[in-house]
Amino acid sequence: MSDQLKATMILDKSYEISDVDKRIYGSFIEHLGRAVYGGIYEPGHPKADKQGFRTDVMELVKSLKVPIVRYPGGNMVSAYNWEDGVGPKKERPRRLELAWRTIETNEVGTNEFADWARKINAEVMMAVNLGTRGVEAARNLIEYTNHPKGTYWSDLRRSHGYEDPHSIKTWCLGNEMDGPWQVGQKTAEEYGKIAKETGKAMKLVDPSIELVACGSSHTEMPTFPEYDATTLDIAYDQVDYISLHRYYGNKSNDPANYLAKNMDMTHFIKTVTSTCDYIKAKHRSKKTINLSFDEWNVWYHSNDQDKEIDPWTIAPPQLEDVYNFEDALLVGSMLITLLQYADRVKMACMAQLVNVIAPIMTENEGRAWKQTIFYPYMHTSIYGRGTSLKPILSSPKYDSKDFTDVPYIDSAAVFNKEEETVTLFLINKHLDEDIPLQADVRSFEGYTLVEHTVLENEDLKAVNTAQRESVKPHNRGEATLKDGKLEAFLKKTSWNVIRLKK
Ligand code: AHR
Repeated sequence: MSDQLKATMILDKSYEISDVDKRIYGSFIEHLGRAVYGGIYEPGHPKADKQGFRTDVMELVKSLKVPIVRYPGGNMVSAYNWEDGVGPKKERPRRLELAWRTIETNEVGTNEFADWARKINAEVMMAVNLGTRGVEAARNLIEYTNHPKGTYWSDLRRSHGYEDPHSIKTWCLGNEMDGPWQVGQKTAEEYGKIAKETGKAMKLVDPSIELVACGSSHTEMPTFPEYDATTLDIAYDQVDYISLHRYYGNKSNDPANYLAKNMDMTHFIKTVTSTCDYIKAKHRSKKTINLSFDEWNVWYHSNDQDKEIDPWTIAPPQLEDVYNFEDALLVGSMLITLLQYADRVKMACMAQLVNVIAPIMTENEGRAWKQTIFYPYMHTSIYGRGTSLKPILSSPKYDSKDFTDVPYIDSAAVFNKEEETVTLFLINKHLDEDIPLQADVRSFEGYTLVEHTVLENEDLKAVNTAQRESVKPHNRGEATLKDGKLEAFLKKTSWNVIRLKK
């Protein structure tokens, strides 16, 4: 190990960024591939409950403590008729699903999904179709889901066996409407107008809801960030959040560059935050628009195999990325980034949850298991609730193909005042060197070390399968805490969770 490589930190309980909105640990289930059919729902499976939901999958989802799940898409929502998915199952139509070119049987729809979300203790984040549809379908849907009774749509829900409204609070106004891949793609002016009018009607039905407007699909869109600015300029008073989506990959097999990609996520968050605040200033508004990073993950492993899939089949294995150890590290870095911007990122969804670019995989009729990325997601979701603190970190840096001054160490810290715990999340991105960390944590007087959990592996390409879990955390990290001085040895390419408690 070279002498220069060491990191120092000051962590003080008064360096608060913001309370963490637990919804940043959200996820996403789209009618895509085997996310629904063969993922969360498989009536013939030995572990299916009476409704056909797989209890083995539910147990894994519950261990992630997912607070909110976005549904039913994604690209799929832009040509979806929600009415197809309610009422007696035998009468539900089969449709061509245009986004992913499959057959949608509609066996699962709004009510079943709301049931499933209740079973896993999560809220639903519902998206409405602003591709092929608009104000009318959206206001009918929210009357169906949220109005108590005594009207056409609410009574229809009751006739379908759901006496109580689902009271869905968070709604997405369409999905990635700037994308040429979207059915019903819209210019910013077209989208701003339909988002404004749809949002207005939906809030007339239920003023307690919160609305998420689409921004640019990602940072490389040619209209980024103008699309976001124009949309907000038109729909500012109706919406509460703007949506961001971002996926990364390592096609060129350059791990140093790959592990730096959360710097692009930081740039994305900062730019969209500035855009929101510019429109706020322009409107002389008191209202702040916050960020919903409602699709993020690694996505590239399955790209080639997806090209081989025949169209118009039911629930084919699409977007089934098998994640390796380096993916888990980048996912950890992305979670750290979300915590670093907890003052503006109030919702985020790991996309997706089961089988489709997911932390959980299943076999039809068979097993369910944890992918490598499951672990950083679980650790942050469980221990990352409270107040996000700003660690003052001095880390050695490197340059990569696309980034300069990449800190080898990324860190976030969350202080839970009620439970009197503080948790540090740390990544060492160095491909060859362990890096010692010295942290001054004197403001946490009376705290002791609970554990130092580490996710590490000699092989960056190691994966988990149904048969073998090669990448899993251990609690043998060697952090020590004495007289307010925390010392830890951060192994090369490792994810670390260091927990202190009073
Ligand atoms: O999550 C997979 C797809 O990625 C979603 O359907 C879409 O919104 C995004 O492009």
